[in-house]
Amino acid sequence: MYIVFIGPPGSGKGTQAVILAEQLGIPHLSTGAMLRTAHDEGSALGRLAADFLLQGKLVPDDVMVQLVAERLSRRDCQAGCLLDGFPRTLTQAQLLDRYLSERGRQVDLVLELVADEEEVVRRLLRRADLEGRADDTPDTISRRMHVYQRETAPVLDYYDRRSQLMRIDGHGTPEEVAARVQQSVSARRH
Ligand code: AP5
Ligand code: MG
Repeated sequence: MYIVFIGPPGSGKGTQAVILAEQLGIPHLSTGAMLRTAHDEGSALGRLAADFLLQGKLVPDDVMVQLVAERLSRRDCQAGCLLDGFPRTLTQAQLLDRYLSERGRQVDLVLELVADEEEVVRRLLRRADLEGRADDTPDTISRRMHVYQRETAPVLDYYDRRSQLMRIDGHGTPEEVAARVQQSVSARRH
């Protein structure tokens, strides 16, 4: 299965994708993590992405689509994978559809994690204290939220119109949210 997680920063995409990837035995692909690793390694991609990451802006679509297509072409993604943080724009969603359909595949399910702004900001500020992720500053969190509403929210309509979207309440403990995720995935599989 090819499953996409969409939700605002701090809604729990990464947390839930790790749990579901383990349950389904398919890889978890976080584009944010891929970019942060590239940045830490000082690769050309990392240098290109640095300013976008720090400012909470989106890395250009052509760069992202190429990165994801390369990753999807590897053997471990042939039976499916969990996409966390991609697609984030309508162009990315359209190009992902094209990439998969050319290979006789499709996005099977899109899970939207719904969480209110107060809660997600609280989570991100807590993570700033615990882990010090460079984009978890009040200013950059606010930019990321804004970018989500402007660029990524339209992607939800795109999938909803194709009946691929399921909304999940992202409040509560990670375990409670994971149980809802599992329920949605089972409902879609049967
Ligand atoms: P990305 O890494 O995707 O960041 P994000 O979307 O801002 O989301 P986060 O990773 O902060 O949150 P999450 O939803 O994964 O929640 P998490 O589980 O971590 O992207 C970063 C940047 O990369 C972008 O700004 C952009 O520059 C670039 N980028 C990435 N993809 C791109 C693309 N496709 N196109 C262009 N640019 C792209 O949880 C957050 C915190 O809350 C954690 O501390 C967690 O432990 C905690 N938590 C989780 N669930 C719960 C819960 N239920 N209760 C309490 N705490 C919880
Ligand atoms: Mg994440």
